[in-house]
Amino acid sequence: MSVQQEITLQSDMRRVVETLHGEETSVAPYRREYRQLLDNHGKMIRATLVVLFGRAAGGNAGKLDGQVITGAAAIEMLHLATLVHDDVLDSAPIRRNQPTVHTTAGNKAAIYLGDLILSRYMEIMAQIAPSTDFLREQASTVCEIVGGELLQEAARHNAETTLDYYRKAIGGKTAALFRLACLTGVRLGSQALDPALLETARAFGDHVGMAFQIMDDIADFDLAHDTGKPKLEDVADGIYTLPVLLALRDNPDVAGLLSRNDPKLVEDYLQLHPELIRRSQDEAMRHLDEADACLAGSADAFQSATIRQIRDVLRRIRGQL
Ligand code: FPP
Ligand code: MG
Repeated sequence: MSVQQEITLQSDMRRVVETLHGEETSVAPYRREYRQLLDNHGKMIRATLVVLFGRAAGGNAGKLDGQVITGAAAIEMLHLATLVHDDVLDSAPIRRNQPTVHTTAGNKAAIYLGDLILSRYMEIMAQIAPSTDFLREQASTVCEIVGGELLQEAARHNAETTLDYYRKAIGGKTAALFRLACLTGVRLGSQALDPALLETARAFGDHVGMAFQIMDDIADFDLAHDTGKPKLEDVADGIYTLPVLLALRDNPDVAGLLSRNDPKLVEDYLQLHPELIRRSQDEAMRHLDEADACLAGSADAFQSATIRQIRDVLRRIRGQL
């Protein structure tokens, strides 16, 4: 990425952060916690994708339209709302290196705060929506995210969960939001919608999202790397992710190990069978390659400078493998 492009993206992302900092709620009981949540943003990968696809749709030059920036902030808010609720469901004590809301202020506060952030996301998107298709896509994606979570919930502690079932669950709970981020950028950044660009955004977002969740699931077993979150949480919660499902497929006796409800035993098993993590990483890598191929196939729709920047995001994600 050229220095100029890097500066431009940084300045776009600063505008997104300012938008999040400027967010206020009139609901008195939770104003302080609302502020803290919105100020402690993460890497903002989803917002970055909104911005880059917004640039891809509208040309690279000049100041990015304010609606793309607002949309990027709103997508980040949707993500945050799902995390606040997710941490209640997963009984997670820390996120982004901070104690989670439900541990500091209780479940009631976490549920209200998630609701508040979600409802503001909806209000903002309704204010900037360029079409009813845009709103329909936002709403149906939220349904998909909840659907993915519910698939995961239904499979808790089930050692007979299939690989396809897992892929469907993460496709809903995670990939759908990545897809929405890319589509939101295209829809808000376009003067006239290009169907090829929409298709690229859709496929690219899906593949990056799948890779991202698989890597997040692998990271849960990687005790050596700090992710700002606790480790061995998934298996402790009865959520069997790709390395565990591959282990079960290779050796059905792993079900006995899982029934002992001791995450350390599962971690030891994965240590003894490093190919399980490697095969999981390969699956994530294949999705990242597919995402890359989506960009290559749409060189006409994208300007090469934006392709380079989007590839840079892919490189950053790949670097975590
Ligand atoms: C993180 O997964 C959670 C998600 C990707 C989605 C959570 C969605 C919901 C709780 C339902 C929808 C909620 C709203 C407000 C619409 P993870 O637990 O695998 O990742 P983690 O390690 O980051 O917790
Ligand atoms: Mg979780």
